Amino acid sequence: MDTPKEIFLKDYKLPDYYFDTVDLNFSLGEEKTIVASKITVYPRVEGSSFPLVLDGEDLKLLSITVDGKELKEGDYCLDSRHLTLPLPPSGTFTLEIVNEIYPQKNTSLEGLYMSSMCFCTQCEAQGFRKITFYQDRPDIMAKYTCRIEADKSSYPVLLSNGNLKEKGHLEGDRHYALWEDPFKKPCYLFALVAGPLESRDDIFVTRSARKVSLRIWTPAQDVPKTAHAMYSLKEAMKWDEDVFGLEYDLDLFNIVAVPDFNMGAMENKSLNIFNSGCVLASPETATDGDYAAILGVIGHEYFHNWTGNRVTCRDWFQLSLKEGLTVFRDQEFSSDMGSRTVKRIADVSSLRNYQFPEDGGPMAHPVRPHSYIKMDNFYTGKILSSLALNVPVYEKGAEVVRMYKTLLGSQGFRKGMDLYFKRHDGQAVTCEDFFAAMRDANNADFANFLIWYSQAGTPVVKVTSSYNAEAHTYSLKFSQEVPPTPGQPVKEPMFIPVAVGLLDSSGKDMPLSSVYHDGKLQSVEISNHPVYTTVVQVTKKEEEFVFADIFEQPTPSLLRGYSAPIRLESNLSDSDLFFLLAHDSDEFNRWEAGQELARKLMLSMVADFQQGKPLALNPNFVHGLKCILSDASLDKEFIAKAITLPSESEIMDMMEVADPDAVHSVRKFIRKELASQLKAEFLNMVLANRSSEEYVFNHPNMARRALKNVALAYLASLEDPETTELAVHEYKTATNMTEQFAALAALAQHPGKSRDDVLADFYSKWQHDYLVVNKWFALQASSDIPSNVENVRNLMKHPAFDLRNPNKVYCVIGAFCYSPVNFHAKDGSGYKFLGEMVVQLDKLNPQVASGLVSSFSRWRRYDENRQNLAKAQLEMIMSTNGLSENVFEIASKSLA
Ligand code: ARG
Ligand code: ZN
Repeated sequence: MDTPKEIFLKDYKLPDYYFDTVDLNFSLGEEKTIVASKITVYPRVEGSSFPLVLDGEDLKLLSITVDGKELKEGDYCLDSRHLTLPLPPSGTFTLEIVNEIYPQKNTSLEGLYMSSMCFCTQCEAQGFRKITFYQDRPDIMAKYTCRIEADKSSYPVLLSNGNLKEKGHLEGDRHYALWEDPFKKPCYLFALVAGPLESRDDIFVTRSARKVSLRIWTPAQDVPKTAHAMYSLKEAMKWDEDVFGLEYDLDLFNIVAVPDFNMGAMENKSLNIFNSGCVLASPETATDGDYAAILGVIGHEYFHNWTGNRVTCRDWFQLSLKEGLTVFRDQEFSSDMGSRTVKRIADVSSLRNYQFPEDGGPMAHPVRPHSYIKMDNFYTGKILSSLALNVPVYEKGAEVVRMYKTLLGSQGFRKGMDLYFKRHDGQAVTCEDFFAAMRDANNADFANFLIWYSQAGTPVVKVTSSYNAEAHTYSLKFSQEVPPTPGQPVKEPMFIPVAVGLLDSSGKDMPLSSVYHDGKLQSVEISNHPVYTTVVQVTKKEEEFVFADIFEQPTPSLLRGYSAPIRLESNLSDSDLFFLLAHDSDEFNRWEAGQELARKLMLSMVADFQQGKPLALNPNFVHGLKCILSDASLDKEFIAKAITLPSESEIMDMMEVADPDAVHSVRKFIRKELASQLKAEFLNMVLANRSSEEYVFNHPNMARRALKNVALAYLASLEDPETTELAVHEYKTATNMTEQFAALAALAQHPGKSRDDVLADFYSKWQHDYLVVNKWFALQASSDIPSNVENVRNLMKHPAFDLRNPNKVYCVIGAFCYSPVNFHAKDGSGYKFLGEMVVQLDKLNPQVASGLVSSFSRWRRYDENRQNLAKAQLEMIMSTNGLSENVFEIASKSLA
């Protein structure tokens, strides 16, 4: 392998040539597919003469014609990555290229490939160059037509972007369809699908009374499982009109679900292609979690139509321009459709579990990276059960967008969005353009806010407070520090919006009147309306805010709603935290207070465990949770979240040297102790929250199931005959997958006959449904039972396993890495397994392989023995012949 080339943001140059129209013609075949393209090319600067360089990979060139004249060998240069025309004509010209590709042999699932019986495409980020020669970069925007020709009986449905213009029969049992997309687009949004599909059809009437045909395409037998996806799509279309005034812009919107897909889904213009795991659901086969994920992903891809497609990225460094913004939009959509607090808790947990560790490791990079080797790596972060995301670009990017809203308010944010579309519709732009629209629409002073895009690492903010009883003032002193990350040893202070409320001794919010900052008194009140939460803007390394007119010592509720993606360290005592847990009007912070208590408790118990001291659970903690459990005023799903302990990875991330065995033992001990001390409460929760009616996807029903399932899992951890029998009973009588799977999972944590029986029963019940079988795989693979690596190797021999299907790889190999005790097994067996798998998978599908290799990236966080074992695997991977750029980038950066 040539040493892969690193691409830098600072090297961005405008293209020398633009494309105006692109007419594609596909002749799909069983041996090979012929692609013919006809492109109108024009120079950026009239009269300039530059070579025209086209990207192309794994293509067989058949012919090139310029203005109707076929080029001969010598007139162009061709290497394994580029086709160069050294001397194109000056002015506008027509370029025609014919090439051959082999979708049946494409296991990378990038470009044109086969999934079950269908041809389908995935072009983002740089897959279009595997279809035909092109300037494969998002700032080349053109109008496309696409003609598809294929065997009629094998491929009855032929789809591409835009509107269907024409279709008809051809000789030899073939047929064709001609599609035209009226909107200019970059090639990464191109899509084609051909195969034996059927659709669920519906209609959405837009707010300006246009009728849009909606079609969700799947193999015939799956059409009944698309009802929830259709519901989600219509809700998303309505929500975008209501909240952002954004209407759909074509008469047709297609979604296709395919079983083989590297990621969750793709927002191709009017032809979204989805991993079927993010589309198909029925109450019997999908959990509440799946239903919620489908709602979110359908929303996400639909919202891209404006944030991504109508306004796109200038270059791939700007990925967060569309992804951060669109994740923010799908989070808001899900919040509005369910519980805002619960959604926020889920999103913050995921930041802590994935973003914080990555931001503190060798792969740390800013929301807008400065360089990349393989862009795909900036999409694939941690992967579980068919969903993949890159936490810095996607989730931290969404937090950055959320901060604009926190600073500007809903109306100010909307003004910024309106201006962004007004200025940039039809353009390929940058994160600064978004920033400028937000700023200009509000005449806002954003100080050093842009640093959020360029500086990696999670800021650590320390707060100390003091009350002055004579002056009736309350002071909050902030200091911030951003830890060094690769390539960024020295950091600048960041602009951190901290939402603050103050609780009086009865637990009620105090009205906030004014704040001194830099010696200046600022009013907080808005036209005599009491204000209970205010956002202070921390922009310096050290800064003090003093609240006036505070007549008793308050308990501060800091960073309400998690107003910035930081680590907050406060001087709150345990009793302050118990007080907040019991009283804070900000529900998110109530949860957070409980989590902070749990984190402190777990860390101190881990230290005890390491010193061989006996473990004992603080009775105040048990009491605090008991109060939450019996508080009838609380939302049930909130209670379920509040009684769930921080994950093992979250605790390991807070340790000097991560100790998976100690963290696992402590978490297990606390769970069992809570289960035995609160057994009566948990039993009551299971009995009181059983389903009485048919499955409905709405918040109250999901909340009830969530609470019941958490209680059942606690009870099953006791491993006594009574609770085991209860779990078996819940498993057998469940009428929906949410409860059935929860009971199965509760039982599956403990080796023994009950476990073996229910696992066998579940498989025989669901073996015909590959998505349910994937759950069965993931549950076993992620299990903490001792020496699970052998079971996982056996699962890979199961007839339902297939190394070429990404979902199955994520559910077996990926899920295995989610069990810290097994993945980080002292004997290195987990590392060795993953090392072997990465090498094997890299030959089939580099994107999937590099997603897995990132499980190694934090190897330096462990003890010396584990470090050596993990490092040996990374070195073994690096020494493999023919390593992909994807895996090379992650493995080499991990070792650096
Ligand atoms: N843009 C897509 C989304 O956010 C993800 C693209 C997948 N990219 C990839 N390299 N496989 O929904
Ligand atoms: Zn996206």
